[in-house]
Amino acid sequence: MGEEKIKVFLVEDNPSEFVLIKEMLTKLKDYSLEVEGAASLNESIEKLQNRKVDVVLLDLNLPDSKGEDTFLKLYQRFPQLPVVVLTGFDDEELAVKVVRQGAQDYLVKGRVDAYLTVKAISYAIERKRIEEALRKARDELELRVKERTAELVRVNEYLKQEVEERKRKEKELRITYIKLKEVQQQLIRSAKMEAVGALASGVAHEVKNPLAIILQGIEYLSKKIETDDENIKYTLKYMEEAVVRADTIVKGLLDFSRISKLNIGKYNINSLIENCLLLMKHQFDRHHIQVVKELGGNIPEVDIDKSKIEQVFINIFMNAVHAMPEGGKLTIRSYVKSLNKDTLPLQFEEKEKFNLDEEVVIVEIEDTGSGIPQELLNKVFDPFFTTKRTKGGTGLGLSIVRSIMDMHNGFIDIKNKSSGGVIVTLIFKKEGGKYGEEKDTHSR
Ligand SMILES: Nc1ncnc2c1ncn2[C@@H]1O[C@H](COP(=O)(O)OP(=O)(O)OP(=O)(O)O)[C@@H](O)[C@H]1O
Ligand SMILES: [Mg+2]
Repeated sequence: MGEEKIKVFLVEDNPSEFVLIKEMLTKLKDYSLEVEGAASLNESIEKLQNRKVDVVLLDLNLPDSKGEDTFLKLYQRFPQLPVVVLTGFDDEELAVKVVRQGAQDYLVKGRVDAYLTVKAISYAIERKRIEEALRKARDELELRVKERTAELVRVNEYLKQEVEERKRKEKELRITYIKLKEVQQQLIRSAKMEAVGALASGVAHEVKNPLAIILQGIEYLSKKIETDDENIKYTLKYMEEAVVRADTIVKGLLDFSRISKLNIGKYNINSLIENCLLLMKHQFDRHHIQVVKELGGNIPEVDIDKSKIEQVFINIFMNAVHAMPEGGKLTIRSYVKSLNKDTLPLQFEEKEKFNLDEEVVIVEIEDTGSGIPQELLNKVFDPFFTTKRTKGGTGLGLSIVRSIMDMHNGFIDIKNKSSGGVIVTLIFKKEGGKYGEEKDTHSR
């Protein structure tokens, strides 16, 4: 044993036993032990609170506590203290039980000598020391694991946020890309329109007069040439038709080139629609087309160029008539609506024209005609795109319509209906906002 005294705390209520054990332990030659103690559990607990001892020798049967309880109560208060239990020879079973519950060892009173007791005490101290060291190491390990886990959770959280952020940025990028694409398309479209417009006005003016001369010539010849030759008559008729057709195209081109100037006023869109329907009545009757009007009440007047918007309706009605040669139903609906992001399939560029929650006037024109083949839907607004070339179509109708709507800062969309036929949606701003710049370059 080392130089330092081993401090033994002896808990024994029998004074003569106490003295006996104390003497036995302190008189050993080779060991240096210091013995103090108490005669009851409560006294022990009180003293041990302020004292540093190396080991406790504990009699289980004390005046204030009996059996395993004595150990458990002490152990609960001082779990780090090594305890060697003292027991009577008829109580070994209890002693074994107490050792299982945490006591370091047991000694049977009267059956042990001083050396055995000292050995038990030394082993108890050493075992407890190792136990404590192990416990400390385990606690430390647990703490490290906890800290590491917390760190991992933090890192994980950070990574999650990074991923979220990246996803958000990716989405932003995608949206920007789509926007850019839209703007690019719009630019291409307006460049195309401008080129067409400039060309149109030039060519149209050059061609208009010669055409008029040719037509007059044909009329003159038709009157002057008296012949029964059917071929000559047919050729003249055929020439006249071709010139009329050329004239129609020229008129269309001139219309197209003039659409940059608007003459804005406040108009009631319903009465405009009624006017156009009246103008078209003959066409509808001829093709057995039933007209259904669902014009909303309380529609505010809107800022528009009356004759241009009439041109819009006439073009759309004409297209519907052409799509229903054998008859059908044409429905015209008008209503006021607050725009919100879910209600309308607006493109990005259109979204910039309108504000969220802006009140607009919407006109829908539905027919029960042939519909538009899906692959042609995005071509119908292109200048000169037509599927009716043989029947005199110029393919300028919808491109003019779109230009007019664009200049009004409005919106036009054409879709096939699931039930067949086409639905054209027009959106008008109540207040025109800033109208398209005056592109005077090709207006005459
Ligand atoms: N209501 C509709 N139903 C079916 N197809 C349509 C309808 N409206 C337009 N289209 C298609 O879109 C094409 C382009 O229409 P657009 O009005 O620009 O030219 P067009 O009618 O052919 O000729 P134009 O109007 O110059 O006489 C049409 O040829 C047709 O194929
Ligand atoms: Mg048309």
